[in-house]
Amino acid sequence: MTSAPNLTGRHLLKELDFSPAEWLYLVDLAEQLKAERRSGSEERRLVGKAVALIFEKTSTRTRAAFEVAAAHQGAATTYLDPSGSQIGHKESIPDTAAVLGGMYDAIEYRGDHQATVESLAEHAGVPVYNGLTDDWHPTQMLADALTIREHTGKPFGEVTHAYLGDARFNTGRSLLVSSAMLGMDVRIVAPQSYFPPQDVVEQAERIAAETGARITLTSDVAAGVAGADAISTDVWVSMGEKKEVWAERIEQLRDYQVDAGVMAAAGNDRAIFMHCLPAFHDLGTQVGRDVFELSGMDALEVTDEVFRSSSSVVFGQAENRMHTIKAVLVATLAGA
Ligand code: CP
Ligand code: NVA
Repeated sequence: MTSAPNLTGRHLLKELDFSPAEWLYLVDLAEQLKAERRSGSEERRLVGKAVALIFEKTSTRTRAAFEVAAAHQGAATTYLDPSGSQIGHKESIPDTAAVLGGMYDAIEYRGDHQATVESLAEHAGVPVYNGLTDDWHPTQMLADALTIREHTGKPFGEVTHAYLGDARFNTGRSLLVSSAMLGMDVRIVAPQSYFPPQDVVEQAERIAAETGARITLTSDVAAGVAGADAISTDVWVSMGEKKEVWAERIEQLRDYQVDAGVMAAAGNDRAIFMHCLPAFHDLGTQVGRDVFELSGMDALEVTDEVFRSSSSVVFGQAENRMHTIKAVLVATLAGA
């Protein structure tokens, strides 16, 4: 385990709020906390603490992970959404931050704008965590890193991680930066117009120079996934986007669907399939059925075959949201 940096009181607004060594430490701590949980020896480090969970967008995993992780550690949580609170419509973000900061030990925020979570952090006086904005999804990245470690058994510096799909949004951007922080060979595989913005690529390249990571942006699927240990994707249309973008997205990303051919092109029998979830891999959702009507595709970013294959680690990855969010809570509130 990496020697423990003191992260007490720190915000997690994006990956780059942490140094590569601190980021790795959070993964190490999550692994330790998961082992403690499994062996029945978990200590409660957050007794008497309370965490506010603000969700302006929907969530299954992130909300559940915060609530369960806090409960395991003895902390209370309160779920707040726009329909049941004054946030946004009757009370500004700075005022909300000041009020919640007076009662809670930390605040989680999920919504559209990075500026909102940054404003909360500026005015709350307690740690603020980004549970997803349009720009970044940092807690997801810790879970992805732990999952990669568990399944590849390799040091991060020897891992090749390919991401296929829309890399302009939270998951693609965060995956590029987090993988660079961990020293991976990271490949963004997408049409050029779906690459992350130039400033994000430059930040990742700056970190890569420090960590030894290698960064490739390519539109060539076969070259992008060759030698991959992990192949990740995300939904093609993110929360907050209009339904009208589906047609264009399908047209642009159809060739970047993760199917059995893509997994085989890794040339690595042990390559794993990863997805932050939720995923459109069958007709089991209303959106999936609506898009089938539009496009005739019965799966979008990943085929059902790959999603259900033995290479798919998506449900363990989802569980790791809880262990890694627990690490963030413990490190920032209990100084573990
Ligand atoms: N992966 C993820 O953030 O899932 P939720 O939207 O369900 O929280
Ligand atoms: N890019 C997706 C991630 C969901 C966890 C979205 O923002 O909807």
